[in-house]
Amino acid sequence: MYDLARQMLFKLSAETSHDLSLDLIGAGGRLGINRLLTKAPARLPTTVMGLQFANPVGLAAGLDKNGAAIDGFAQLGFGFVEIGTVTPRPQPGNPQPRLFRLPQATAIINRMGFNNLGVDHLVERVKAARYEGVLGINIGKNFDTPVGRAQDDYLLCLEKVYAHASYVTVNVSSPNTPGLRSLQFGDSLKALLDALATRREALALASGRRVPLAIKIAPDMTDEETAQVASALIATGMDAVIATNTTLSREGVQGLPHGDEAGGLSGAPVREKSTHTVRVLAAELKGALPIIAAGGITEGRHAAEKIEAGASLVQIYSGFIYRGPALIREAVDAIAAMPVGARVGF
Ligand SMILES: Cc1cc2nc3c(=O)[nH]c(=O)nc-3n(C[C@H](O)[C@H](O)[C@H](O)COP(=O)(O)O)c2cc1C
Repeated sequence: MYDLARQMLFKLSAETSHDLSLDLIGAGGRLGINRLLTKAPARLPTTVMGLQFANPVGLAAGLDKNGAAIDGFAQLGFGFVEIGTVTPRPQPGNPQPRLFRLPQATAIINRMGFNNLGVDHLVERVKAARYEGVLGINIGKNFDTPVGRAQDDYLLCLEKVYAHASYVTVNVSSPNTPGLRSLQFGDSLKALLDALATRREALALASGRRVPLAIKIAPDMTDEETAQVASALIATGMDAVIATNTTLSREGVQGLPHGDEAGGLSGAPVREKSTHTVRVLAAELKGALPIIAAGGITEGRHAAEKIEAGASLVQIYSGFIYRGPALIREAVDAIAAMPVGARVGF
Protein backbone atom coordinates (compact mmCIF):
# COMPACT_ATOMS: atom_id res chain seq x y z
CA MET A 1 0.00 0.00 0.00
CA TYR A 2 2.78 2.42 0.93
CA ASP A 3 4.61 1.50 -2.31
CA LEU A 4 1.70 2.98 -4.25
CA ALA A 5 1.53 6.10 -2.08
CA ARG A 6 5.30 6.49 -2.39
CA GLN A 7 5.18 6.31 -6.18
CA MET A 8 2.78 9.26 -6.17
CA LEU A 9 4.53 11.21 -3.41
CA PHE A 10 7.96 10.85 -5.04
CA LYS A 11 6.58 12.49 -8.20
CA LEU A 12 6.11 15.70 -6.21
CA SER A 13 8.92 17.91 -4.96
CA ALA A 14 10.38 16.64 -1.69
CA GLU A 15 8.91 19.46 0.38
CA THR A 16 5.43 19.32 -1.23
CA SER A 17 5.37 15.60 -0.63
CA HIS A 18 6.49 16.16 2.98
CA ASP A 19 3.72 18.70 3.62
CA LEU A 20 1.09 16.53 1.97
CA SER A 21 2.14 13.42 3.92
CA LEU A 22 2.02 15.35 7.18
CA ASP A 23 -1.48 16.62 6.34
CA LEU A 24 -2.66 13.09 5.49
CA ILE A 25 -1.12 11.52 8.59
CA GLY A 26 -2.61 14.31 10.72
CA ALA A 27 -6.06 13.93 9.15
CA GLY A 28 -5.90 10.14 9.51
CA GLY A 29 -5.01 10.62 13.17
CA ARG A 30 -7.97 12.91 13.78
CA LEU A 31 -10.29 10.38 12.11
CA GLY A 32 -8.64 7.52 13.97
CA ILE A 33 -8.09 5.56 10.74
CA ASN A 34 -4.29 5.32 10.59
CA ARG A 35 -4.19 2.16 12.64
CA LEU A 36 -6.39 0.50 10.02
CA LEU A 37 -3.78 1.21 7.33
CA THR A 38 -1.00 -0.75 8.94
CA LYS A 39 -0.58 -3.91 10.99
CA ALA A 40 0.18 -2.99 14.59
CA PRO A 41 3.73 -3.76 15.73
CA ALA A 42 4.30 -6.37 18.40
CA ARG A 43 4.12 -5.04 21.93
CA LEU A 44 7.60 -4.73 23.34
CA PRO A 45 7.18 -2.60 26.48
CA THR A 46 10.44 -0.92 27.41
CA THR A 47 11.29 1.29 30.39
CA VAL A 48 13.95 3.95 29.77
CA MET A 49 14.56 7.24 31.65
CA GLY A 50 11.85 6.05 34.05
CA LEU A 51 9.29 6.24 31.21
CA GLN A 52 7.21 3.36 29.86
CA PHE A 53 7.48 2.95 26.08
CA ALA A 54 4.96 0.77 24.20
CA ASN A 55 7.87 -0.33 22.00
CA PRO A 56 11.44 0.94 21.51
CA VAL A 57 10.99 2.38 17.98
CA GLY A 58 10.25 6.11 17.83
CA LEU A 59 9.74 8.89 15.33
CA ALA A 60 12.86 11.09 15.13
CA ALA A 61 12.64 14.88 15.43
CA GLY A 62 12.11 17.10 12.41
CA LEU A 63 9.30 15.32 10.61
CA ASP A 64 6.61 16.86 12.81
CA LYS A 65 8.28 20.11 13.86
CA ASN A 66 5.07 21.77 15.07
CA GLY A 67 3.27 18.81 16.63
CA ALA A 68 0.71 18.87 13.83
CA ALA A 69 0.17 15.11 13.55
CA ILE A 70 1.03 13.60 16.96
CA ASP A 71 -2.02 11.29 17.09
CA GLY A 72 -1.51 10.28 13.47
CA PHE A 73 2.09 9.18 13.97
CA ALA A 74 1.27 7.38 17.21
CA GLN A 75 -1.48 5.40 15.46
CA LEU A 76 1.02 4.17 12.85
CA GLY A 77 2.69 2.14 15.59
CA PHE A 78 5.60 4.26 16.85
CA GLY A 79 6.45 3.45 20.46
CA PHE A 80 7.21 7.13 21.04
CA VAL A 81 7.01 10.36 19.11
CA GLU A 82 9.50 13.25 19.17
CA ILE A 83 8.26 16.60 17.85
CA GLY A 84 10.27 19.77 17.08
CA THR A 85 12.84 21.17 16.76
CA VAL A 86 10.94 24.15 18.06
CA THR A 87 12.38 27.61 18.71
CA PRO A 88 11.10 30.40 21.00
CA ARG A 89 9.79 32.52 18.09
CA PRO A 90 8.31 31.32 14.78
CA GLN A 91 10.80 31.42 11.89
CA PRO A 92 10.57 30.57 8.18
CA GLY A 93 13.75 28.52 7.85
CA ASN A 94 16.03 28.64 4.81
CA PRO A 95 14.81 29.51 1.30
CA GLN A 96 13.45 26.63 -0.79
CA PRO A 97 14.54 24.29 -2.26
CA ARG A 98 16.02 22.96 0.98
CA LEU A 99 15.00 19.29 1.03
CA PHE A 100 16.39 16.73 -1.40
CA ARG A 101 15.76 13.00 -1.90
CA LEU A 102 18.63 10.80 -3.09
CA PRO A 103 16.79 7.55 -3.81
CA GLN A 104 19.83 5.75 -5.27
CA ALA A 105 21.42 6.01 -1.82
CA THR A 106 18.21 5.76 0.30
CA ALA A 107 19.24 9.16 1.62
CA ILE A 108 18.01 12.70 2.21
CA ILE A 109 19.89 16.01 2.33
CA ASN A 110 18.16 18.85 4.15
CA ARG A 111 18.94 22.41 5.09
CA MET A 112 15.50 23.28 6.46
CA GLY A 113 16.93 25.57 9.17
CA PHE A 114 14.35 24.96 11.94
CA ASN A 115 11.32 26.22 10.00
CA ASN A 116 8.64 26.18 12.70
CA LEU A 117 5.68 28.07 14.12
CA GLY A 118 7.25 28.75 17.52
CA VAL A 119 6.97 27.15 20.93
CA ASP A 120 3.59 28.64 21.90
CA HIS A 121 1.95 27.14 18.82
CA LEU A 122 3.57 23.76 19.50
CA VAL A 123 2.29 23.71 23.09
CA GLU A 124 -1.26 24.34 21.80
CA ARG A 125 -0.91 21.39 19.40
CA VAL A 126 0.27 19.12 22.21
CA LYS A 127 -2.68 20.18 24.38
CA ALA A 128 -5.05 19.33 21.51
CA ALA A 129 -3.56 15.83 20.99
CA ARG A 130 -5.21 12.77 22.51
CA TYR A 131 -2.03 10.68 22.52
CA GLU A 132 -1.08 9.43 25.97
CA GLY A 133 2.20 7.66 25.17
CA VAL A 134 5.74 9.00 25.42
CA LEU A 135 6.13 12.40 23.76
CA GLY A 136 9.57 13.99 23.36
CA ILE A 137 9.82 17.70 22.62
CA ASN A 138 13.00 18.79 20.85
CA ILE A 139 14.14 22.38 21.48
CA GLY A 140 16.58 24.69 19.71
CA LYS A 141 17.48 28.33 19.24
CA ASN A 142 16.25 30.92 16.75
CA PHE A 143 18.62 31.50 13.84
CA ASP A 144 19.05 35.17 14.78
CA THR A 145 19.84 34.58 18.44
CA PRO A 146 23.62 34.95 18.79
CA VAL A 147 25.32 31.70 19.85
CA GLY A 148 26.56 33.49 22.97
CA ARG A 149 22.92 33.92 24.02
CA ALA A 150 21.73 30.47 22.93
CA GLN A 151 21.18 29.49 26.56
CA ASP A 152 18.31 32.00 26.86
CA ASP A 153 16.45 30.32 23.98
CA TYR A 154 16.91 26.80 25.35
CA LEU A 155 15.83 27.85 28.85
CA LEU A 156 12.76 29.66 27.53
CA CYS A 157 11.72 26.62 25.46
CA LEU A 158 12.38 24.29 28.40
CA GLU A 159 10.09 26.34 30.65
CA LYS A 160 7.31 26.46 28.07
CA VAL A 161 7.32 22.77 27.11
CA TYR A 162 8.15 21.34 30.54
CA ALA A 163 4.59 20.57 31.63
CA HIS A 164 3.72 19.00 28.27
CA ALA A 165 6.69 16.74 27.52
CA SER A 166 7.53 13.19 28.64
CA TYR A 167 11.15 14.15 27.96
CA VAL A 168 12.87 17.18 26.44
CA THR A 169 15.63 16.92 23.82
CA VAL A 170 18.26 19.62 23.61
CA ASN A 171 19.33 19.85 19.98
CA VAL A 172 22.92 21.07 19.71
CA SER A 173 23.67 19.15 16.53
CA SER A 174 21.69 20.54 13.61
CA PRO A 175 24.13 21.62 10.88
CA ASN A 176 21.68 24.18 9.48
CA THR A 177 21.75 26.83 12.20
CA PRO A 178 25.10 28.65 12.07
CA GLY A 179 27.17 28.08 15.22
CA LEU A 180 24.74 25.62 16.82
CA ARG A 181 27.12 22.67 16.68
CA SER A 182 29.79 24.67 18.55
CA LEU A 183 27.61 24.15 21.65
CA GLN A 184 28.66 20.48 21.66
CA PHE A 185 32.17 21.24 22.79
CA GLY A 186 34.11 22.06 25.96
CA ASP A 187 33.05 24.97 28.14
CA SER A 188 30.10 25.96 25.90
CA LEU A 189 28.56 22.52 26.39
CA LYS A 190 29.22 22.45 30.15
CA ALA A 191 27.75 25.94 30.63
CA LEU A 192 24.62 25.06 28.64
CA LEU A 193 24.10 21.73 30.42
CA ASP A 194 24.68 23.31 33.85
CA ALA A 195 22.11 26.01 33.13
CA LEU A 196 19.58 23.45 31.88
CA ALA A 197 20.17 21.17 34.88
CA THR A 198 19.66 24.06 37.32
CA ARG A 199 16.48 25.25 35.61
CA ARG A 200 15.16 21.70 35.44
CA GLU A 201 15.68 21.26 39.21
CA ALA A 202 13.66 24.43 39.83
CA LEU A 203 10.89 23.26 37.49
CA ALA A 204 10.85 19.81 39.07
CA LEU A 205 10.58 21.30 42.53
CA ALA A 206 7.75 23.61 41.51
CA SER A 207 5.78 20.96 39.59
CA GLY A 208 6.60 17.79 41.53
CA ARG A 209 7.62 16.13 38.24
CA ARG A 210 11.20 15.63 37.05
CA VAL A 211 11.19 15.63 33.24
CA PRO A 212 14.19 13.79 31.72
CA LEU A 213 16.60 15.78 29.54
CA ALA A 214 18.20 14.18 26.46
CA ILE A 215 21.02 15.77 24.45
CA LYS A 216 21.16 15.15 20.70
CA ILE A 217 24.61 15.03 19.14
CA ALA A 218 26.18 14.94 15.69
CA PRO A 219 27.95 11.97 14.08
CA ASP A 220 30.85 14.16 12.95
CA MET A 221 32.89 14.32 16.15
CA THR A 222 36.17 12.53 16.78
CA ASP A 223 36.01 9.66 19.28
CA GLU A 224 37.80 11.88 21.79
CA GLU A 225 35.21 14.63 21.38
CA THR A 226 32.37 12.12 21.74
CA ALA A 227 34.00 10.81 24.92
CA GLN A 228 34.20 14.36 26.27
CA VAL A 229 30.49 14.85 25.60
CA ALA A 230 29.80 11.61 27.50
CA SER A 231 31.73 12.86 30.54
CA ALA A 232 29.90 16.19 30.47
CA LEU A 233 26.53 14.41 30.31
CA ILE A 234 27.37 12.33 33.36
CA ALA A 235 28.81 15.29 35.27
CA THR A 236 25.70 17.43 34.72
CA GLY A 237 23.15 14.69 35.45
CA MET A 238 21.62 14.45 31.99
CA ASP A 239 19.17 11.57 31.45
CA ALA A 240 19.88 10.37 27.89
CA VAL A 241 21.84 11.03 24.73
CA ILE A 242 20.44 10.83 21.20
CA ALA A 243 23.01 9.71 18.63
CA THR A 244 22.86 10.99 16.01
CA ASN A 245 21.67 13.92 13.98
CA THR A 246 22.54 14.26 10.25
CA THR A 247 26.12 14.31 8.94
CA LEU A 248 28.10 16.91 7.00
CA SER A 249 29.99 14.11 5.26
CA ARG A 250 29.10 13.31 1.64
CA GLU A 251 30.51 9.80 1.71
CA GLY A 252 28.16 7.49 -0.17
CA VAL A 253 26.43 10.20 -2.21
CA GLN A 254 29.26 11.76 -4.21
CA GLY A 255 28.38 12.07 -7.88
CA LEU A 256 24.66 11.40 -7.28
CA PRO A 257 22.01 13.95 -8.27
CA HIS A 258 21.75 16.44 -5.35
CA GLY A 259 24.78 14.77 -3.71
CA ASP A 260 26.58 18.10 -3.38
CA GLU A 261 23.68 20.11 -1.92
CA ALA A 262 24.55 21.89 1.33
CA GLY A 263 22.95 20.64 4.54
CA GLY A 264 22.75 17.49 6.65
CA LEU A 265 22.81 14.03 5.08
CA SER A 266 20.63 11.29 6.59
CA GLY A 267 19.50 7.79 5.75
CA ALA A 268 21.63 4.82 4.69
CA PRO A 269 24.93 6.74 4.25
CA VAL A 270 24.97 7.92 7.90
CA ARG A 271 24.23 4.52 9.41
CA GLU A 272 27.74 3.33 10.15
CA LYS A 273 28.94 6.69 11.46
CA SER A 274 25.94 6.89 13.79
CA THR A 275 26.37 3.35 15.03
CA HIS A 276 30.04 4.05 15.65
CA THR A 277 29.07 7.07 17.75
CA VAL A 278 26.69 4.83 19.74
CA ARG A 279 29.52 2.36 20.36
CA VAL A 280 31.91 5.07 21.56
CA LEU A 281 29.24 6.52 23.84
CA ALA A 282 28.35 3.08 25.24
CA ALA A 283 32.00 2.41 26.07
CA GLU A 284 32.32 5.77 27.85
CA LEU A 285 28.96 5.88 29.59
CA LYS A 286 29.04 2.28 30.86
CA GLY A 287 25.30 2.40 31.45
CA ALA A 288 25.39 5.71 33.38
CA LEU A 289 22.71 7.01 31.03
CA PRO A 290 20.78 5.44 28.15
CA ILE A 291 21.46 5.98 24.45
CA ILE A 292 18.72 6.62 21.90
CA ALA A 293 20.07 5.72 18.45
CA ALA A 294 19.07 7.39 15.19
CA GLY A 295 20.76 7.33 11.80
CA GLY A 296 20.28 5.15 8.76
CA ILE A 297 17.74 2.63 10.00
CA THR A 298 16.14 1.55 6.73
CA GLU A 299 15.63 -2.13 7.58
CA GLY A 300 14.58 -3.94 10.75
CA ARG A 301 18.00 -5.45 11.25
CA HIS A 302 19.55 -1.98 11.44
CA ALA A 303 17.43 -1.28 14.52
CA ALA A 304 18.73 -4.48 16.12
CA GLU A 305 22.28 -3.41 15.19
CA LYS A 306 21.82 -0.14 17.14
CA ILE A 307 20.54 -2.01 20.22
CA GLU A 308 23.48 -4.41 19.95
CA ALA A 309 25.84 -1.41 19.83
CA GLY A 310 24.45 -0.25 23.19
CA ALA A 311 21.27 1.74 22.49
CA SER A 312 18.10 1.31 24.55
CA LEU A 313 15.73 2.91 22.03
CA VAL A 314 15.89 3.81 18.33
CA GLN A 315 14.39 6.53 16.18
CA ILE A 316 13.63 6.68 12.47
CA TYR A 317 13.25 9.52 9.99
CA SER A 318 14.62 8.84 6.48
CA GLY A 319 13.79 5.13 6.58
CA PHE A 320 10.17 6.06 7.24
CA ILE A 321 10.14 8.24 4.11
CA TYR A 322 11.48 5.40 1.97
CA ARG A 323 9.74 2.43 3.57
CA GLY A 324 6.62 3.83 5.24
CA PRO A 325 5.00 2.46 8.39
CA ALA A 326 5.95 -1.17 7.60
CA LEU A 327 9.46 -0.30 8.78
CA ILE A 328 8.20 0.38 12.31
CA ARG A 329 6.86 -3.14 12.71
CA GLU A 330 9.93 -4.61 11.02
CA ALA A 331 12.20 -2.78 13.46
CA VAL A 332 10.18 -3.81 16.53
CA ASP A 333 10.14 -7.43 15.34
CA ALA A 334 13.90 -7.42 14.71
CA ILE A 335 14.57 -6.10 18.23
CA ALA A 336 12.11 -8.58 19.77
CA ALA A 337 13.88 -11.43 17.95
CA MET A 338 17.29 -10.56 19.43
CA PRO A 339 18.70 -12.93 22.01
CA VAL A 340 18.10 -11.23 25.37
CA GLY A 341 21.84 -11.13 26.07
CA ALA A 342 22.45 -9.11 22.89
CA ARG A 343 20.12 -6.32 24.02
CA VAL A 344 22.96 -4.52 25.74
CA GLY A 345 21.10 -1.29 26.43
CA PHE A 346 17.88 -2.87 27.70
C1 LIG B 1 14.28 16.76 6.60
C2 LIG B 1 14.87 16.51 7.96
C3 LIG B 1 14.65 17.41 8.98
C4 LIG B 1 15.20 17.19 10.24
N1 LIG B 1 14.95 18.07 11.24
C5 LIG B 1 15.44 17.82 12.48
C6 LIG B 1 15.14 18.71 13.55
O1 LIG B 1 14.41 19.70 13.40
N2 LIG B 1 15.68 18.43 14.76
C7 LIG B 1 16.47 17.34 14.99
O2 LIG B 1 16.92 17.14 16.12
N3 LIG B 1 16.76 16.47 13.99
C8 LIG B 1 16.25 16.69 12.76
N4 LIG B 1 16.54 15.81 11.75
C9 LIG B 1 17.44 14.66 12.02
C10 LIG B 1 16.67 13.37 12.30
O3 LIG B 1 15.89 13.50 13.46
C11 LIG B 1 17.65 12.19 12.50
O4 LIG B 1 18.44 12.42 13.65
C12 LIG B 1 18.60 11.99 11.30
O5 LIG B 1 17.92 12.24 10.09
C13 LIG B 1 19.19 10.60 11.25
O6 LIG B 1 18.19 9.61 11.18
P1 LIG B 1 17.67 8.96 9.78
O7 LIG B 1 18.89 8.46 9.06
O8 LIG B 1 16.71 7.88 10.22
O9 LIG B 1 16.98 10.04 9.04
C14 LIG B 1 16.00 16.02 10.48
C15 LIG B 1 16.21 15.11 9.43
C16 LIG B 1 15.66 15.33 8.19
C17 LIG B 1 15.90 14.33 7.09
